[in-house]
Amino acid sequence: MIEVHLARSLGCIADSDASCLDPAEQARHRAFHRACDAADFLAGRRLVRERLGRVHGLAPAQVPLEIDPQGRPGCPLDESPQFSISHAGGFVAVAWNAPGRGPVGVDIQPLDTPMDAALEPHYLTLFERQQMPSGPEAARARERLHYFVLKEAILKCHGTGFRVTPESITLQSKDKRQWICTDGTARGLHATLHLLPSSTTRQPLLTAVACSSAHSTTGVTFHVL
Ligand SMILES: CC(C)(COP(=O)(O)OP(=O)(O)OC[C@H]1O[C@@H](n2cnc3c(N)ncnc32)[C@H](O)[C@@H]1OP(=O)(O)O)[C@@H](O)C(=O)NCCC(=O)NCCS
Repeated sequence: MIEVHLARSLGCIADSDASCLDPAEQARHRAFHRACDAADFLAGRRLVRERLGRVHGLAPAQVPLEIDPQGRPGCPLDESPQFSISHAGGFVAVAWNAPGRGPVGVDIQPLDTPMDAALEPHYLTLFERQQMPSGPEAARARERLHYFVLKEAILKCHGTGFRVTPESITLQSKDKRQWICTDGTARGLHATLHLLPSSTTRQPLLTAVACSSAHSTTGVTFHVL
């Protein structure tokens, strides 16, 4: 079962206590130019460190976190749940997969994120462009956002992020909710789309969660903290 924890990161602008971070993270936190970016980073790492601290019986700042050469953070301790972080629109999301269940990927974007049609060839394959709805531009823009969020979650789960270009992987779906990557380096990874309504997160947030099991992506639970 995959869990997604969501929290407002803007609170971390006022509450900038970075003592839960390790020294390298504290340096990164201080180096952000924009307060909102520093707050996003702090909020994500705080959620991760507090949970892993409870799992391993450690103070949050003592939890070892490593960043692999592709940029993915992880905890090297045995029996650690896998996690993935995303920030957008003043929120941070952390998706958790149980130990032994493999990696997970998450991406969140506000539903009104503009998606320029001219950028389509940069993140959609020819097959995907042929599947685009032929109706009004608003429907096409929404579909573009769906693909973008799904691909970011899948490529985070894969561990490369956009080092693998999104137009090099194809997504297919029977019901527009559950998707599978059918080719390229992330072939076989599954993802689902979820819309978190504004009653939950103040603004509608589109969320994609990816992992290697179709079953796990259907049983995602959300907790707004
Ligand atoms: C991973 C990536 C898609 C995230 O994009 P973003 O716009 O920062 O979006 P999000 O907020 O949703 O995600 C950020 C989180 O992704 C995670 N992440 C970064 N690289 C990752 C990777 N290779 N695999 C999985 N997760 C990754 C991090 O946890 C990061 O948050 P943190 O730095 O606060 O810990 C993007 O950073 C990327 O593709 N990076 C690799 C390519 C690159 O570095 N390009 C640079 C210039 S084009």
